[in-house]
Amino acid sequence: MNNGRVAVVAGCRTPFAKSGTVYRDLTALDLGKACVRELVERSEVDPSAIGYVVMGQVIPSVKAPNLAREVVLGTGLPAGVPAHTVNRACASANEAIAEVASAIMAGHAEAGIAGGAESLSDVPILHSRKMSRVLQEASRARTLGGRLAAFARVRPRDLVPDTPAIAEPSTGLTMGQSAEKMAKENGIGREEQDRIAFLSHRNAAAATEDGRLKAEMCPVLISPRFEQVVTADNLVRKDTSMEALAALPPVFDRKHGTVTAGNASPLTDGAAAVLLMAEGKAKAEGYEPLAYVRSWAVAAVDPGGQLLMGPGIAIPKALARAGLELSDLDLIEMHEAFAAQVASNIQALESDAWARDKLGRSKAVGKVDRERLNVCGGSIALGHPFGATGARITTTLANELRRRKGKFGLLSVCAQGGMGFAMVLER
Ligand SMILES: CC(C)(COP(=O)(O)OP(=O)(O)OC[C@H]1O[C@@H](n2cnc3c(N)ncnc32)[C@H](O)[C@@H]1OP(=O)(O)O)[C@@H](O)C(=O)NCCC(=O)NCCS
Repeated sequence: MNNGRVAVVAGCRTPFAKSGTVYRDLTALDLGKACVRELVERSEVDPSAIGYVVMGQVIPSVKAPNLAREVVLGTGLPAGVPAHTVNRACASANEAIAEVASAIMAGHAEAGIAGGAESLSDVPILHSRKMSRVLQEASRARTLGGRLAAFARVRPRDLVPDTPAIAEPSTGLTMGQSAEKMAKENGIGREEQDRIAFLSHRNAAAATEDGRLKAEMCPVLISPRFEQVVTADNLVRKDTSMEALAALPPVFDRKHGTVTAGNASPLTDGAAAVLLMAEGKAKAEGYEPLAYVRSWAVAAVDPGGQLLMGPGIAIPKALARAGLELSDLDLIEMHEAFAAQVASNIQALESDAWARDKLGRSKAVGKVDRERLNVCGGSIALGHPFGATGARITTTLANELRRRKGKFGLLSVCAQGGMGFAMVLER
């Protein structure tokens, strides 16, 4: 067993980019390798000290489904480092961090890397079941005639590709439709959503301009020619305004809806990772950790109800495990899948009825201080590469806690399947 805490020693991410833009020819693995390579170099950790690598990816590649292991093999980490890939939807990198932290707490490793990567430019596009049956039969056929006979059964509609939907398998609703439902049922208006989006861009633009976010990024060289280098996020709009946001049409309910391209997180490519270490080991190696893991919690709600309310349960659980109240926090990082989801979860935390009905408590969890929320921007402005976001948020929270000489910070992420993740960091 490890006697001390788990230290967040360093964090790093690629610049985040709208999918189909600068990273359109790269894979999630390319992005994951770029960021882990840089994390190891910058932190100067001895690669032989790394005991585990865990990475998150939500839409895995069929060619390299265990992204984490390929990251180990492709970044010069020792081949003897075991690695696996996890999927807790948008909280996958958080899950990776929790798993490496658990391994360190159990004494199974002294140090590990946890993060995630996603490329929505490179999602697997499937053939229909009939087409894949035909292809399998044709590949098994021993004669040209047999092969032609298999292909003769193909009809034009069999050629229609099957693309993965960002939808809830159990209900069929897309994430956007689920956010619309939450906005309507919780009375979250368009202006409140646009305000959250506006602040996300304003804070992200400020943190970009003064270099706080830049310090967390590694450059990404674009293969195969390696002539182009990506050094900055490309989704942050420093010139956005409440008026510009108000002018955007609703996307998921075109007639009565309030969720727009402006107040939803965009489809994004990117990777992020953190270096975790046992407190004793970090100190012995002369590191000054950014922060320590104090507690975490996962939770789940029925996806048939309000899909993205997991944080409303995970947050009080993580706080209780940390022995803290919302008022003890210096900073809060809340993943912004949609502004409607952020507002709904804040409303729940501040509601006596939510506390009574969902948490078995007599009083609301507490007030969320908006001045301490997503101070470097959030996923609406920065983007949301599903598998990576959790490590981006953890890195920013740890760095900002240190900058502000804060003591406690909380992060939360909502995820498909009605799940939520929350973690408390301390200094
Ligand atoms: C909402 C969504 C469909 C929009 O996709 P899109 O149409 O490709 O979005 P775009 O970036 O092209 O934006 C659409 C328009 O809004 C404008 N816009 C977007 N954000 C803006 C802002 N903050 N200010 C001003 N204009 C903005 C764009 O400039 C664009 O204008 P144009 O049509 O004149 O070029 C897509 O981002 C999406 O599916 N998001 C949800 C992802 C999701 O489900 N995640 C899971 C979370 S759990």
